[in-house]
Amino acid sequence: MIVANRLPVDARTLPDGATEWVTSPGGLVTAMESVMRHVDSGAWVGWHGTAGEAPEPFAADGMHLYPVALSAEDVEKYYEGFSNGTLWPLYHDVIVDPEFHRAWWDAYVRVNRRFAQAAAAATAPGGTIWVHDYQLQLAPEMIRASRPDVRIGFFNHIPFPPVELFSQLPKRNQVLRGLLGADLVGFQRESDAVNFLSAVRHLLGYQVDQYTATVPGIGSEPARQVVAKSFPISIDTAAISSLTEDPAVRERAAELRRELGEPDKIVLGVDRLDYTKGIRHRLKAWGELLRDGSIDPHDAVMIQVATPSRERVEAYRQLRDEVELTVGRINGDHAPIGRPAISYLHRSFDRRDMTALFMAADVVLVTALRDGMNLVAKEYVASRPDLRGVLVLSEFAGAADELRAAILVNPHDIDELKTAILQALKMPEDEQEQAMLSLRRQVLDHDVQAWAHAFLGDLESAGRPEEIAR
Ligand code: G6P
Repeated sequence: MIVANRLPVDARTLPDGATEWVTSPGGLVTAMESVMRHVDSGAWVGWHGTAGEAPEPFAADGMHLYPVALSAEDVEKYYEGFSNGTLWPLYHDVIVDPEFHRAWWDAYVRVNRRFAQAAAAATAPGGTIWVHDYQLQLAPEMIRASRPDVRIGFFNHIPFPPVELFSQLPKRNQVLRGLLGADLVGFQRESDAVNFLSAVRHLLGYQVDQYTATVPGIGSEPARQVVAKSFPISIDTAAISSLTEDPAVRERAAELRRELGEPDKIVLGVDRLDYTKGIRHRLKAWGELLRDGSIDPHDAVMIQVATPSRERVEAYRQLRDEVELTVGRINGDHAPIGRPAISYLHRSFDRRDMTALFMAADVVLVTALRDGMNLVAKEYVASRPDLRGVLVLSEFAGAADELRAAILVNPHDIDELKTAILQALKMPEDEQEQAMLSLRRQVLDHDVQAWAHAFLGDLESAGRPEEIAR
């Protein structure tokens, strides 16, 4: 049983009042959807993406989906508020200021309880519940209270902040206790697990060792051991490989190049339109390279896909305005007639189009200021069986721990970013091949199935920590 804020599909109401289901945005769904395709009669509890009553449970892609209702007030206070106005910025190094409002916390508790109840009611005796991400950190403890028979795993898809930052969170101890309701708490990076265990030790005073926290029992209850470890998430490499062999996808990649006027080089960025992704830094670097003549807009084009995200949250509105102003300015100053210097696409694309874009791109820029993992980096690598293309990757993305053969950058250093972009554009083919080969070995050997297997294997032996592979 998967429990996540979003179902893998979002309900959209069409102009004629009919409902259309579309794939939900974000890395969590990208990863978990592939995992669940290999599970017989799996189930998923989540929100269907619109405020108001929930549809009845239904089956899709061999899964049972259990929609959870969020009222307009829940969306405002639990989703846009505590999840994305408090936790998201706090957990991403306070790139924007987190806001703390007591009414948001109340909504967070209320909605976590609703998810926990829905999961507890729909899970078979002795089953396994896997709770996902920062929106549902209280759910593990709530589920345990009513279903001590089930195994509970939790995976945090975003960073877990250092204790100095986490300590700012009002109700921080409740959040830690909520997470410690799980048998296994998984994180993207080793440093996230270390941060979590350090918060448990400093703030709750519980005993911790390298991979476990000991939760003292209450009354006659025995103490429990909770395991906390890193499990770097990945992608469905087999699905992407087969798309790269599809003649229609290959033709689309060639067509994209023609549509852009056959530039020598295509540089690509693909992100949710989020302030954590460093889109402004990337645009600044690109604009300066055009201005100082290091890049000729007749030779190189940048494509920026910016998937709409959390558009009612103020920081996201501001970011959109800033990005669109900057793109407009750069195009106004530098684009040749009839062709952009930056092709800006504020919409989402399906897997086939995304793979075609990756196959057409000579360079992909991932310049996140902080990112749990960043699956775009891995998707690009999986899309290049021809061993061509260069990945420029922020050292602040979790993916940088594994993808050492990328050009690693500090995106805050605009000069360094400019140098890295030029280096990528000029890289000889033999060097591209060498780097891509090494990147592909890493990504193909560690796909999302291996990730799920590792997590669920450890969850199986949780409670008996001596069996956890160390
Ligand atoms: C990230 C988060 C997910 C979230 C996704 C999309 O990947 O880790 O939990 O679902 O962004 O954001 P949204 O707010 O639209 O669900």
